[in-house]
Amino acid sequence: MVGERKPICRTYLMCPPRFFRVEYVINPWMDTTVPVDADLAVKQWERLREILIELGHTVHVLDPDPGLPDMVFAANGAFTVDGVAYGARFRHPQRSAEAAAHRAFYAGQGWPHTEPVEINEGEGDFAYLPGKGMVLAGYGFRTAPPAHAEAAETLSRPVVSLRLTDPRFYHLDTALAAIDDHTVAYYPGAFSAPSQRVLRQLFPDAVLADEADALDFGLNLVSDGRHVLLNSDATALATKLAAAGFTPIPVELSELKKGGGSVKCCIAELRP
Ligand code: ARG
Repeated sequence: MVGERKPICRTYLMCPPRFFRVEYVINPWMDTTVPVDADLAVKQWERLREILIELGHTVHVLDPDPGLPDMVFAANGAFTVDGVAYGARFRHPQRSAEAAAHRAFYAGQGWPHTEPVEINEGEGDFAYLPGKGMVLAGYGFRTAPPAHAEAAETLSRPVVSLRLTDPRFYHLDTALAAIDDHTVAYYPGAFSAPSQRVLRQLFPDAVLADEADALDFGLNLVSDGRHVLLNSDATALATKLAAAGFTPIPVELSELKKGGGSVKCCIAELRP
């Protein structure tokens, strides 16, 4: 039996999907011909925010911009470790203006913020394991490999590079997530064979997801060390997490999935 897992109170940043639309295609999930229920998108997002607050977390909210339909995916705006924010530089011009909104937020909170030279999409491609003092970083589709070195210099943390090879899992956070301070859950098939070996070495105790879990966006999750918020379609992964001693909390996010995102994409963690 696994002992009781302790949740840790977190601080998050989210942005309401008031202007969410699928009006361009920058990942294989997006299809401009599929209708989005805008009201439902907002309701589902509100529920996600409520759950975080009910669990005792602090949630800051960023003002959405009507011209930036993907701004709901707040995880992409920066990556923070120990009170330092490493800003994003988006790969696609359609999203590039989002970086300034995040920069302004951190400035307003008095956080040191570093402007990146290299293309990187914030927590979309960076994950932090506080127990190991280590950053995991994805590349292959969005974040440029030199951004990994830039992040290491900015944040004074070792960065382990992992190559993503399946375009459906275009950001690290679609295929891997920290579930506590030391451990991750991931889908091996999203990574190159050498990167899979790196993951096996680093995380012999990882929760392994299968392709169906990953396609259900199950790995695009947010964990406080005990409660794991994940897409309600990913029922098999929820069962695996429960067996590992976590408390899965299913969240319905059918509309945002049409933009290629789920729980984690909507939530940036602020690590003071
Ligand atoms: N439509 C957005 C894009 O392709 C979705 C971003 C999802 N965010 C994430 N952290 N995976 O950029």
